[in-house]
Amino acid sequence: MSNRVRGLRSIELEVPNLGAARKFFTEVWRLSEVEAGSSAAYFRGTGRYHHILALHAASGGAAVRRVVFDASDRDSVRAFHSAIAGRGHQCTRLAESKGPGGGYGFDFVDQEGRRFGIVCEVADHADDADVADRPRKIAHVNLNAVDVNGTNAFLIDNLGFSLIDQSGPLSFLHCANTDHNSVVVCGAAKPTINHIAFELPDLHAVMRGAGRMRDAGYPIEWGPGRHVAGDNVFAYFAGPEEIPLEYTSDVMQVDDSYVPHGPEYWKWPAGRMDQWGITPPHSQRWKRIQDMLSFSTAPLVD
Ligand SMILES: [Fe+2]
Repeated sequence: MSNRVRGLRSIELEVPNLGAARKFFTEVWRLSEVEAGSSAAYFRGTGRYHHILALHAASGGAAVRRVVFDASDRDSVRAFHSAIAGRGHQCTRLAESKGPGGGYGFDFVDQEGRRFGIVCEVADHADDADVADRPRKIAHVNLNAVDVNGTNAFLIDNLGFSLIDQSGPLSFLHCANTDHNSVVVCGAAKPTINHIAFELPDLHAVMRGAGRMRDAGYPIEWGPGRHVAGDNVFAYFAGPEEIPLEYTSDVMQVDDSYVPHGPEYWKWPAGRMDQWGITPPHSQRWKRIQDMLSFSTAPLVD
């Protein structure tokens, strides 16, 4: 498929306590607020994207409003719309975005009820220099899927992802950039979000971030360690409302010469859960929350 998304731009969450979440994501997680009102707040990383996280005040529990991908231009967005609507998936109309950063795009829902958006021409920032201990961008979202093959096929056929590696229950999906993966699909009982990973500049920032999280009352739930597929360093936490979060760094950079492998290749040495062999198993809390964050079920609105 020649039409491919360029990356994972942002995630939008609904949270019951907007004030507490704003304080966490700026002071502890170290994003920068770019726009805020009484009912929503928008945060950038050090990369160019206008915002990588949006928080919306909501009366229920935490939920995902949508995961937004970046497209190159209007022709690309129109082609995505035509393909996704043409296969019978629910889509909003193509439109200019009235939200912060603007842009042109649409929202859609996949066969398991996940909410996505695709947008181009967003008013992104001119600066993108790394800043110590501040996230650049979202490295990946890990989507829990009842039907892994069907979910992979949706992302491959409609958004131009390619299946770059498979390890245990995990499928790693690569799009039109040099990161090994931007989406991970995990076999699960419900189509929830397994976790959201934010990319820090280096390993030291992940370790310092884990210390900062501990100091703020958010202990490490899994890690620190180094994944095998994707080669990235990781530390996992239960954030506000137990939103499952990851700090990561050193994501493998790939080109077209990368050779994908299956689960038979990505085998763990006995008793190990990461390359270094240092991380203990997931905490009980992590096992509980990694299948907890649902997508919003509110109707799509044009
Ligand atoms: Fe991850």
